Amino acid sequence: MLADTAALARQAREAGQGLGAFNVILLEQAEAFVAAAESTGHPVVLQLSENAVKYHRGSLAPLGRALVALAEGSAAPVAVHLDHAEDTALCYQAIELGFTSIMYDGSKLPDDENRRTTAEIVRAAHAAGLSVEAELGEVGGKDGVHAPGARTDPADAARFVADTGVDLLAVAVGTSHAMSTRDAVLDLDLIERLAAAVPVPLVLHGSSGVSDLGMQAAIRAGMVKINVSTHLNGVFTRAARVELEANPKLTDPRKYLGPGSTAMQKEAARLLNLYAI
Ligand code: G3H
Ligand code: ZN
Repeated sequence: MLADTAALARQAREAGQGLGAFNVILLEQAEAFVAAAESTGHPVVLQLSENAVKYHRGSLAPLGRALVALAEGSAAPVAVHLDHAEDTALCYQAIELGFTSIMYDGSKLPDDENRRTTAEIVRAAHAAGLSVEAELGEVGGKDGVHAPGARTDPADAARFVADTGVDLLAVAVGTSHAMSTRDAVLDLDLIERLAAAVPVPLVLHGSSGVSDLGMQAAIRAGMVKINVSTHLNGVFTRAARVELEANPKLTDPRKYLGPGSTAMQKEAARLLNLYAI
């Protein structure tokens, strides 16, 4: 069933668990994540990023509608989230399409403009029953709050939530996007301080770089929504590559996308169980 992202995150926080939020580029991947949620009995967030929308020739609707349909038809609670949207028009489109949440990413804007635009998106999203995730402005490095050295200040974070009314907050605690090794060192003490200071569930971006034990420690410290993309894409692509290399004459995409999807489903299920401490 289609479920609200913030409500799932609040439930996870109360249970002391993490909520898996996995990025989708292909329909097969979304199907794998929904199957993982159903097999484990844990909810999942399907995330479609602005970058993925660009890959799909700029159209949010075709894959977006498919994600909503998959969520509605699922036996498990499934949220549908627009990830890293810098384009406000895309946010309004996600509202129209029936997504359950939006990450408005104004982190590259000047701080006051980020706060003002985020608050506007929050008003529109709330009026339509969606929740909103946001992040503070650039803290350091060209990857904004997701640079390894960037850190979110707990008092700043609490003020940002009060100013904007967001339902979830992405924070910088030691991860960076698109890591292919799982050796990021998280600032667990800072996660604890942020969880105490910020009234809404915290979101970890760049979670591919975190080891299993590191992630469980982060969840115990108060991290809630766990965004994973690169790691799961790697699992998918490696499994597809094995098929392609073993059968150079393959033409039917189902013959390599299928194994990719099966491998991704297994790993997604393993992660969902890992987060349900
Ligand atoms: O918003 C999506 C995530 O932050 C994914 O990051 O590709 O490093 O796992 P990742
Ligand atoms: Zn991210």
